[in-house]
Amino acid sequence: MSMPTHPRQAECPFRLLEWTSNDSVGHRLIDDQHKGLYQLYNRLVINVYCQCPDLNIIAIDSAEFYRILAAHCDQEEDIMRALKYSSISKHVEHHRFYIKSLRDLLTDNPNPAALRISTTYLRSIITDHVDRDDRDFGTFLSSHGIWGLV
Ligand SMILES: [Fe+2]
Ligand SMILES: [Fe+2]
Repeated sequence: MSMPTHPRQAECPFRLLEWTSNDSVGHRLIDDQHKGLYQLYNRLVINVYCQCPDLNIIAIDSAEFYRILAAHCDQEEDIMRALKYSSISKHVEHHRFYIKSLRDLLTDNPNPAALRISTTYLRSIITDHVDRDDRDFGTFLSSHGIWGLV
């Protein structure tokens, strides 16, 4: 995944996310969806947060992120069930927490402070989710000899 260029990086409070092979959990569909989440986050930061003064448009982009994240969590859980992932209940619990927290943030009226918090929170959802929870699933795939094969 190539790193997008940020037109106003110096003044933007958010660093962009770059997906690298180190972020792979060893499952093609999950990796592809994670790349999509990174891109969505970067688009939110570059095209909307830094360039668009319309808070309603920012809120629409955040809501789109919410919708895609929720769909990703559902699909990922289906994959984990199919592969009989032993730690799925803890994983699902974390998914539910991320989704509920994000929904609570996004139901507030859009205002600059709330959107700044939600954008920061989106980033931590991505990094906690991919770097910690999903990495554990990658370890499971690895220990079952199916890392990179599914
Ligand atoms: Fe996950
Ligand atoms: Fe995931």
